[in-house]
Amino acid sequence: PEPSTPTPVATVSQYACQRRTTTENKNKIFTDAFEVLVENYEFNEVEGPCVAIRRAASVLKSLPFEVQHMGAAEDLPCLGDHTKAVMEEILQCGHSFEVEKILSDERFRTLKLFTSVFGVGPKTAEKWYRKGLRSFSDVLAEPSIHLNRMQQSGFLHYGDISRAVSKAEARALGNVIDEVAHAITPDAILALTGGFRRGKEFGHDVDFIVTTPELGREKSLLSHIMDRLKKQGILLYSDYQTSTFDITKLPSHRFEAMDHFAKCFLILRLEESQVEGGLNTAEGDSRGWRAVRVDLVSPPMDRYAFALLGWTGSRQFERDLRRFARLERRMLLDNHALYDKTKKEFLAATTEKDIFAHLGLEYIEPWQRNA
Ligand code: CTP
Ligand code: MN
Ligand code: MN
Ligand code: MN
Repeated sequence: PEPSTPTPVATVSQYACQRRTTTENKNKIFTDAFEVLVENYEFNEVEGPCVAIRRAASVLKSLPFEVQHMGAAEDLPCLGDHTKAVMEEILQCGHSFEVEKILSDERFRTLKLFTSVFGVGPKTAEKWYRKGLRSFSDVLAEPSIHLNRMQQSGFLHYGDISRAVSKAEARALGNVIDEVAHAITPDAILALTGGFRRGKEFGHDVDFIVTTPELGREKSLLSHIMDRLKKQGILLYSDYQTSTFDITKLPSHRFEAMDHFAKCFLILRLEESQVEGGLNTAEGDSRGWRAVRVDLVSPPMDRYAFALLGWTGSRQFERDLRRFARLERRMLLDNHALYDKTKKEFLAATTEKDIFAHLGLEYIEPWQRNA
């Protein structure tokens, strides 16, 4: 008899922007382990293997099934020898020896502790570690260390901002910002971005785009918002970065990860009474308020779609969108614009769908971008 043609199996793309990844991760046992490896590579500034593990983790997150034996992972992209060995170990013994070793390593543990403070990056953490410091009390008692304003706030509000922000708290903060923005300009536009737009239940901060349709007016919007938050007594910390965006300089600008829009990184005081169902604070915490990290970005309205796509994330989804644009389409994408290198022209967009269409990609909903 004629051999029957095998049923085609849907192949998984190597690009996160061609996969649909919800918040439901069926392969957490693997991806949690990979996250440790990624962090360790980041601390050691090991670039290549770090990228490889990130991509492997992202592929596993997108799967609609739990990988229960290595056969199921055979045809998946981005899984190299190293990642496969780690997976096999986890399948056989329930954990990875390499990961366990990193988790018990003094340097890793210390760098992880120090970088958990708002304002402390890997460079500073390493510097403190080299001085022989191992705990927060070591750092705070060290006379040669001068904490900057950001790090001081980081230590001051450590308990609160290392605690997850709930969806209800994000919503309450949205109401606060919305009211303030509309008091400044009735046509203010506010959009929730970041992890909460992707449907996450919890986040480490809350991210918003806040702007106005009047081009140029957005440049002063954030400083007005911060003034009002300060007057209300809820601005616990602010780091404001003025707009350095200049449309006439595109595309002379290198397409980059960090955008040039006006933005601010804040710590706000959120009142218990403003949150439906109450604050996500520790048992027995009766202050009636908590500190929360909030990011605001203010793009000009004609850049809105690019900013929204860029700030919705996830970071891995963004990396792969850019990589796909560059390698598969000869286009450059960043938070400001999309440039076609073949046609030598910018491609306009008013919605995220326009951008996906320009890239020849199927539209991926925000809640499917948890790559
Ligand atoms: N982002 C950016 N420029 C920055 C900071 C952030 O473009 N200066 C983008 C990131 O690429 C990310 C998104 O904004 O896609 C949100 O960043 P972040 O708040 O760090 O991460 P979330 O995905 O929101 O995750 P979490 O819940 O932990 O906050
Ligand atoms: Mn966020
Ligand atoms: Mn953020
Ligand atoms: Mn630049």
